[in-house]
Amino acid sequence: MTFKVNENKSLNIKTATGEYKVNFCRGGIKQADKYIKNNKALIITDNGVPAEYAQAVKSRLSDGKILTLPQGEATKNMDNYQKILSTLVENNFTRSDCIVAVGGGVVGDLAGFAASTYMRGIDFYNIPTTVLSQVDSSVGGKTAIDFMGIKNIVGAFYPPKAVIIDTDTLKTLPERQIANGLAESVKMALTNDKELFELFENSNPLENLEEIIYRSVKIKAEIVEADEKEKGLRRVLNFGHTLAHAIESVNQMEKYYHGECVAIGMVPMCDTKIRERVINVLNKLILPTKPDKEDADEIIKACIHDKKMSGDDITVVYVSNVGEFRFEKIPFSKYEDMIRQVLNQ
Ligand code: GLY
Repeated sequence: MTFKVNENKSLNIKTATGEYKVNFCRGGIKQADKYIKNNKALIITDNGVPAEYAQAVKSRLSDGKILTLPQGEATKNMDNYQKILSTLVENNFTRSDCIVAVGGGVVGDLAGFAASTYMRGIDFYNIPTTVLSQVDSSVGGKTAIDFMGIKNIVGAFYPPKAVIIDTDTLKTLPERQIANGLAESVKMALTNDKELFELFENSNPLENLEEIIYRSVKIKAEIVEADEKEKGLRRVLNFGHTLAHAIESVNQMEKYYHGECVAIGMVPMCDTKIRERVINVLNKLILPTKPDKEDADEIIKACIHDKKMSGDDITVVYVSNVGEFRFEKIPFSKYEDMIRQVLNQ
């Protein structure tokens, strides 16, 4: 993997709930004190993240304490939320102290939610260390935990004080994990940025990771500035996600990663005239473009079950041309035909 450009760039994000910078800085975790001004910090990470990342952050702060949680979506629960709160209370954290997340989306969502509620809100910094969290979940202020089996059902919009994107942390990620995150960048490109899509088409994405991450965050920043609370435009970020969620609901043993489900989910929502281009890019990233045959029926059943919960029509994000999208309210039967066509091929 080669890294180019974008050292020490930043993007400013301003919404009704706050203003913050997303800082792109290679080696940023080793300069955390440049961004984190609070004296005391609870650094939250998980055991799938190299321990030296949280250590590097701690070494730059005058009073840092590390809390390491287990890796995986199951960590985003009430018990770990309570564990964070009790650590804060037991260590006399006050309103002038902060929480720093060092890890992927699970750590960021959970740490951000704890920060949003402790003492009615303390400073929160996010240092995402996966492509998926760098291009998507660390930006936009969504924080949450899962509850009673429902993903992200308890949460808050709580913008961080700053996001630090250190692309050096990606060097330890397996290529499948990098592709997993890049699926969300393909989503941003397909819906909003023709040139970014052409970069995927015409170059080796692994050689242009920083450019891709920067451009993806730029798109997301513009979207959340326009619609932070997902009343309209921000729903474009759900492109491909209806089918992705159905796949995730039947996803035994985490056979497919989130980005892989999104990759499969995007294909039927693209016009047939661009579908081949989309499939070529996904193939290039070694992302799936349809589920294994033996899973297809179950996935369609899961979609139909979801439909029963939400009525006869469904609003989808449809990409008619690269870089252009529209919201379309269609009868569920039409949606079912669209996904059947791709899944049963
Ligand atoms: N990941 C979708 C959003 O932030 O709205």
